[in-house]
Amino acid sequence: MQRRSFLAATAGALVAPRLASAANAQITVLANEPIAAINPLVHGHFVEHLGGVVYDGIWVGENSKIANIGGLRKSLVDALKKIQAPVFRWPGGCFADSYQWKDGIGPRAQRPKRTNFWEGSSLLRKLEDSPARYDPNTFGTNEFMRFCRETGGKPYFAVNVRSSTPKEFYEWVEYCNAPSGRTTWSNMRGEAPYNVEFWGIGNESWGCGGNYTPEEYSVEYRKFTAWAPGYGVPLKYLPSGPNGGDLNWTRGFFEAMLRKDRNSINNVWGWALHYYCGTTGKSAVDYTDAEFYDLLARAQVMEDLINRHWTIMGQYDREHRIKFAIDEWGTWHREGTQVGPDHLFGQQATMRDALVAGLTLDIFHRHADKVSMGCIAQLINCLQSLFLAHEDQFVLTANYHVFDLYRAHQNGTAVRAVFGAPLVEKAPRLAGSASVKDKVLTLTGVNTHLTEPLAAAIEVAGAAVKSARLEVLSSPDSHHHNTFAQPNRLVPRPAQATASGSSIKAELPPISVWKITADLA
Ligand code: AHR
Repeated sequence: MQRRSFLAATAGALVAPRLASAANAQITVLANEPIAAINPLVHGHFVEHLGGVVYDGIWVGENSKIANIGGLRKSLVDALKKIQAPVFRWPGGCFADSYQWKDGIGPRAQRPKRTNFWEGSSLLRKLEDSPARYDPNTFGTNEFMRFCRETGGKPYFAVNVRSSTPKEFYEWVEYCNAPSGRTTWSNMRGEAPYNVEFWGIGNESWGCGGNYTPEEYSVEYRKFTAWAPGYGVPLKYLPSGPNGGDLNWTRGFFEAMLRKDRNSINNVWGWALHYYCGTTGKSAVDYTDAEFYDLLARAQVMEDLINRHWTIMGQYDREHRIKFAIDEWGTWHREGTQVGPDHLFGQQATMRDALVAGLTLDIFHRHADKVSMGCIAQLINCLQSLFLAHEDQFVLTANYHVFDLYRAHQNGTAVRAVFGAPLVEKAPRLAGSASVKDKVLTLTGVNTHLTEPLAAAIEVAGAAVKSARLEVLSSPDSHHHNTFAQPNRLVPRPAQATASGSSIKAELPPISVWKITADLA
């Protein structure tokens, strides 16, 4: 009988079936082989007017009994400050290409109520009324900017291309960035200029953003961006990138742009690739061992996508000035575990999701020379969320703790690291990333095995290690997740690591996301 089937067969009889003996793993960190600085924006977030993300999630209202900062859920703001959330993409998603930004400004009581893009979903159709179905526009540009200011994240706006015009876009830039007291729009803002830099031109323009061909979209992109006034702010544009492995979209867009004018890609800051690894199994919390590994294998595909699109981008942008902004990524499970009645796409986050988060962020760090921004989808009450909230209840998910563990990488220099461990099913057994900042090495990674720990021998080539600390987010059962009733089931805990010479030894538990922090001499 194989070890895994033995464990499955005896699972009822044993409590937390852990194996004492650990397989050996060798990790070599090449501290003198830098890849590039890790842009903090790769730890970014996505906020769409979808289900319970904005209303119930972020916005509770100024008159709410729930602790709030000018209507923003205080517990959320505090938690985001702690992890140094770097950027928020807003207001969509598919919603963005039907959003009229002017509906969301001026006195709140006078703002129009509009049908939300997601109104037709079966979950929302069960409800007569809901802000997720009919958007009251209470949360608009000023409220979003306050959210950014309070949390410390940068704003990244997604512009409506499908059902709006370049003129409307220019006016939005004017509203946000024109000097106070100079134009009607800047007066209406009523605050100091927001100086918004990041502007995504449409969303998924190959699909809900207009069903364009890449050639057609390149025309729209130029119309929107070529002559837009910036008010002294260097505007950073992000064209709508491909759906996963659609290489034709990347090739088609860049080719069409260069055919028109070889300087036309000069204003592209980031190429907005979207990739959801999706789901396996019956639901977010109900899947088999094989389905567990299968999902992790799908998450790992991100690395391949980056490499394949990057090769094509290099044919048009030989210096590789343009990097990726992977502004939607994550798991997407079947409906049924949402915590509020209108939380469309709301899902629980188990240790399986935490492993996907760890795997993905480590890929971004290993490709720090290629990836400049990443936004997990979505912040709260939605797909792979860091938070779940309903009315006065609020909980940090396992995904949050991964972002918390990994934030030490922000602004570090990613260095090469080699991870060697036995294989497990189709998924990587051990994967991770390393960075150095101010003589501190941050090494993060995952042990995806369902039952076996790894005895890791870590060799830091090119530096002596003075001390090392290990923190681990793990659980004996990958299905475990935090709930309102049990909010601290999954939290990172300190564990043993020893340093000597240029080596570190640490035991990495099964089903774990871990971080080693080492002081280098
Ligand atoms: O994140 C949910 C949806 O997924 C977004 O609105 C869309 O851009 C993507 O297809």
